[in-house]
Amino acid sequence: MNLVVNSVVSLETEGEIAIVAVDSPPVNALGQRVREGVLLGIRKAIGQKAKAVVLLCKGPTFFAGADISELDRPILEPTLDVVEAAIEDSPIPVVAAIHGTALGGGLEVAMACHYRVAVPSARLGLPEVALGLLPGAGGTQRAPRLMGIEAAIGMIAGGKPVMAAEGIRLGLLDALVDEGELRGQAIAFARELLVKGAPLKRARDLPVDLSPEEAQAAADRYRAKNPAQFRGFKAPGNILKAVVAAAELPFDQGIAREWELFSELLSSEESEAQRYAFFAERIAGKVPGLDKTVRPRAIATTGVVGAGTMGTGIAIALLNAGFPVTLVDLNAEALDKARARIAGTIQGQADKGRIPSDAAAARIAALSSAGDLSALTGTDLVIEAVFERPDLKKTIFAQLDAVMKPGAILATNTSFLDVNEIAAATARPHDVVGLHFFAPANIMRLLEIVRGDKTAGDVLATALWLGRKLGKLAVVSGVCDGFIANRLMARRGETADRLILNGPPPADIDRVMVDYGFPMGPFQMVDLVGLDVIGWDRENSAGRTVQEILCEAGHWGQKTGSGYYDYSQGTAAPAADALAAIAAIRERNRIEPRSYDDAQLLHALLDPVVNEGAKLVDEGIVYRASDIDMALIAGYGWPVYRGGPMFWGDSVGLPGVVERLKARVAAGEDIVISPLLERYAIEGRRFVHDDRQRGRAQGPRGIGEPGKGTLTAGGHG
Ligand code: 3HC
Repeated sequence: MNLVVNSVVSLETEGEIAIVAVDSPPVNALGQRVREGVLLGIRKAIGQKAKAVVLLCKGPTFFAGADISELDRPILEPTLDVVEAAIEDSPIPVVAAIHGTALGGGLEVAMACHYRVAVPSARLGLPEVALGLLPGAGGTQRAPRLMGIEAAIGMIAGGKPVMAAEGIRLGLLDALVDEGELRGQAIAFARELLVKGAPLKRARDLPVDLSPEEAQAAADRYRAKNPAQFRGFKAPGNILKAVVAAAELPFDQGIAREWELFSELLSSEESEAQRYAFFAERIAGKVPGLDKTVRPRAIATTGVVGAGTMGTGIAIALLNAGFPVTLVDLNAEALDKARARIAGTIQGQADKGRIPSDAAAARIAALSSAGDLSALTGTDLVIEAVFERPDLKKTIFAQLDAVMKPGAILATNTSFLDVNEIAAATARPHDVVGLHFFAPANIMRLLEIVRGDKTAGDVLATALWLGRKLGKLAVVSGVCDGFIANRLMARRGETADRLILNGPPPADIDRVMVDYGFPMGPFQMVDLVGLDVIGWDRENSAGRTVQEILCEAGHWGQKTGSGYYDYSQGTAAPAADALAAIAAIRERNRIEPRSYDDAQLLHALLDPVVNEGAKLVDEGIVYRASDIDMALIAGYGWPVYRGGPMFWGDSVGLPGVVERLKARVAAGEDIVISPLLERYAIEGRRFVHDDRQRGRAQGPRGIGEPGKGTLTAGGHG
């Protein structure tokens, strides 16, 4: 028998077993209708005198958690704790039948059930920490009772899901069932409970395994071992408090404490920014105007041209994603070195236990190399990563055009050159696209996909598909100098260079940026990358800037032992030569240093970034302002809990940003204020806050698999 409970929940019966089945695409998030349906379904099952209930979800996954888009609004009845209480207090056993991912509120509902079974491919987790939250529906109180305090701290503060087999080991699951047999075997499991007269196992009634003191010690150990997780983030601290409360307080008081700590996070700026980033990341993969029928091209083989640092990193990224790679370089020695580096890096992953050794061997074996572009004749996609010289790139693209098969994709990893000009060197500009990786290319998450004027829709679709395969956060950019991330951060760099002449030393600027949440400040970054490789014109260098003076003296940063900092004593101390260079230029230009407080420095450095972002939106370089935020978070370590430059600009107030920039222009600084920014400030508009909830409706849904998805080959343009 099949009874409709509401639009997303049905109640089915198989003899004495009732099945509460949820079907709320895409991921069965626990929105209001789902909560209402489950509550009614459980009550009806009990009312119908069923002997046991199986709770399952249809579609790709068990509940993926609370509906994150609802968290910004007042929570509608019934709340999740009411649903869970109905389940836990049920007089008949309730069995959660799990496939896909039981995440956040989804796992919390499962933990309120008396028993849990899952297929081996299922994953279980409490990832709320990534949203700046903690499990607010009993997870911090039930998980410690089921799996022990120490393991619960690891799962909740770490946020990483575990596979079903680990769930069994931890005590989260009672049984594994066969893949594809979840419904039938969960029903059989429930029948067996009835036959055995098994008790109603309520997590709330289980004892915790540690005393309050031991729980606190476990929390302290976790904090000491994972300091980076706590820097700037509020949620991990509250998570530790909530889990320790499970050892200190009876269950109901623990739940009340959990709610207090959850509410504190829910209203925090950090969580607001992280929830925004969750949706912004998903929207970034959607290209307005790209027809849903456009299918990515099939990519089975790949090539990389240029065996330098970038080419090597890109090759590793491709090999790790399962693509065979042909690496091409004229220079045999460079090729040998690159091959050794690639093999060493992949073997290193195996040595650290991150991948099985046979997988490492297969990846290394999937690399071939050649000294000639003709080796790429049959390759589906090639990524060029040679020096940033337009003539060289154009020559290579003309040669690639001559050797590569029709339909192959020709990508350039240029970081600032004109992709349209490079494409024009071929007779097939529609097959050309920019794939801008960030160093190290096998590690950094950002991939800027640069669409040229003539890039074909299916080439763009393929690039987005590739980004997903590589595990990157792909953001589409139009053609401009520096694209998104580098163009914006160049404005911070210029300002930092100017500020050190006006007063604050490099260390103060770096400190303010690190306090804001960046992994390092601009001068620490330059020292790391090398002063000689970031915009130093060796031939024309004439001691005009601090950088020129330092570079000419051989102070190129960490690799030479000094730059803006001196590394000779094993730590980074302000370098006397850098301070002397600053003083010399000040004297030459008669600059009277002044003092800045930290807030002034912060705005001085970041207001121009917001301004540049506004220009990108205005010029149509990005599809939406939130793409800028995603690029900066994934490419430059902009702290996710600040939401990125556009979210931050909105938060601090665009009128203030404009006012401060105007004051700087009046003081003679060479800043062009974006007319769009000024207009938004006057009209009281914001770049991303207003779009937040509309995001999910924007653009076509995702990108299908080549040959399998809903997308079909599209035209050019
Ligand atoms: N709420 C609302 N929408 C959600 C969602 C959620 N919890 N989880 C996923 N979605 C939406 C996505 O926005 C996307 O929508 P779109 O198609 O319109 O862009 C769609 O579902 C598919 O998501 P993905 O593109 O991410 O699909 P994947 O297959 O790559 O991943 C997933 C699926 C692993 C479930 C991933 O979406 C995910 O990790 N979701 C979030 C899980 C989570 O954080 N849960 C905790 C929520 S907070 C909570 O539960 C609080 C509680 O303690 C009270």
